[in-house]
Amino acid sequence: MRKPYIAGNWKMNLTPSQAAKLAKELAEALKGSTTKVMIAPSFVSIPAVMKAVKGSDIIVAAQNMNDHENGAFTGEVSAEQLLDLGVKDVILGHSERRHIYGESNELINAKVLFALKNGMNVDLCVGETLDERESGNLEKVLTDQISIGLKGVGKEAMEHITIAYEPVWAIGTGKTATPEDADAAHAIIRGLIEKLYDKSVAEDLIIQYGGSVKASNVKALMAKENIDGALVGGASLSTEKFLPIVQFDK
Ligand code: 13P
Repeated sequence: MRKPYIAGNWKMNLTPSQAAKLAKELAEALKGSTTKVMIAPSFVSIPAVMKAVKGSDIIVAAQNMNDHENGAFTGEVSAEQLLDLGVKDVILGHSERRHIYGESNELINAKVLFALKNGMNVDLCVGETLDERESGNLEKVLTDQISIGLKGVGKEAMEHITIAYEPVWAIGTGKTATPEDADAAHAIIRGLIEKLYDKSVAEDLIIQYGGSVKASNVKALMAKENIDGALVGGASLSTEKFLPIVQFDK
């Protein structure tokens, strides 16, 4: 049985004090919740958010991380720095990292391996552009992103991997994939994982959907067999919007 996993990617939003306020409200409101919840603030907000969620089950994740131990990498953040703050989870390969900052599947793979080596959990984002979908390349894009992204990741490490399917055309556009389209893409991903690993790894893998998830569509998405959670952007920026998403089953 896969446990629902709802995550909020706050992207480059909220000041540290706004982030801490939101995190505190969520920790309060989600007391006793059985759904796994993660929030990913900006790096500078992490210490304040960690303090705000202390004692709750909310996971605080980073939105990105470098693939080197330390050194001359101006503007980058290391695993050691995150771990020192108590952060054990990281989102890697987000489409904004891929498309705005040119991150390749190979670079994302290096980051994934480095995170795992450091005992961290990874939320690996994949997803196609509209062009790729319309030209019939959905399966090829997902295959490349997953087989290269997870290259060298052993079967035993797969319990530390979550995959977020985020079609680029649905991110921040208000256009959500239909539950059927999202489920079909998730089924492709689960099939790939079965091929790369085995049936039990594929069955245990949590696959989140991301792309304009909101209170009004989360229930229908989560009802689908292969959709185990959500990675939410815009609608994770207030308690009012995020809470009903986390509590989709209420
Ligand atoms: P939106 O929910 O704002 O479309 O963003 C999705 C996303 O990119 C989450 O990582």
